[in-house]
Amino acid sequence: MKITVVGAGNVGATCANVIAQRELASELVLLDIKEGVAEGKAMDMMQTSALLGFDSRVSGSTNDYSKTAGSNVVVITSGIPRKPGMTREELIGTNAGIVKGVVENILKYSPDAIFVIISNPMDTMTYLALKASGLPKNRIIGMGGILDSSRFKYYLSQAMECPSSDVQGVVIGGHGDTTMIPLTRFATRAGIPAAQLLSADCLKKVAADTMVGGATLTGLLGTSAWYAPGAAGALLVEAIVRDEKKVYPCCVALDGEYGQKDICLGVPVVIGKNGCEEIVDFKLNAEEQAEFNKSADAVRKMNQVLADMKVI
Ligand code: LAC
Repeated sequence: MKITVVGAGNVGATCANVIAQRELASELVLLDIKEGVAEGKAMDMMQTSALLGFDSRVSGSTNDYSKTAGSNVVVITSGIPRKPGMTREELIGTNAGIVKGVVENILKYSPDAIFVIISNPMDTMTYLALKASGLPKNRIIGMGGILDSSRFKYYLSQAMECPSSDVQGVVIGGHGDTTMIPLTRFATRAGIPAAQLLSADCLKKVAADTMVGGATLTGLLGTSAWYAPGAAGALLVEAIVRDEKKVYPCCVALDGEYGQKDICLGVPVVIGKNGCEEIVDFKLNAEEQAEFNKSADAVRKMNQVLADMKVI
């Protein structure tokens, strides 16, 4: 199994590090445009292998796509991250051209790859990758919902004073501060509804904190977060390479599911060796469906910018 991570910044390097430590690939390539950075980070990771006992081979490359040839899975983290006070959506002008170029270059050497998109604004970059590549929709998966759900579980575990491994919770919709939808109705602690363990106000605050989870970290760090985004990307890769058939909320192309078409948006999907193998299309209640439609409207507006910029 060969995996490439494009972008050796904080998110890409963290993602690659988790992939290496979990031995998901016999060969892992880290690629970046900044001279020497991918090579340096790959070498640093390899120097942890004797300490931590993993056998993945990690190499780095400065923009030489021939090194990525024959990759089975490619994670794209390229582009600029947001700064405090910025929304993910404000990155589109810079990141659209970068992500499109990366997809085209990767496809020259890895025509059968499954793509995991992390670059922001993620829902729109996933839509761009789908349109620019012309690939079947099962092979283009945006990573946002796994991260947002993990943040949801974190805030739930803090509120319920329990380990996050006790918690279930899912976030669907867009990966934006105002477009994501933490489904509080289905959140549980060990199968017990969170709504029976927390007050309505508390649950509302958990949802609100989740939605600005990324922005809160950007405010603290001065740039966007990387440990959880990198780990979430690696877990999505793991579900593909191990053919796990796990249900994860991911950003995929919808064709009538949840009442939406011609858009990539976060919904629960089954992830396996073919990428997105099935969309779990379950019935939302009227309020949730209205929020989902609102989220789709906002993402569709963003996607329109791609057409206005003439990148698709
Ligand atoms: C975040 C970025 C990676 O949510 O989208 O932290």
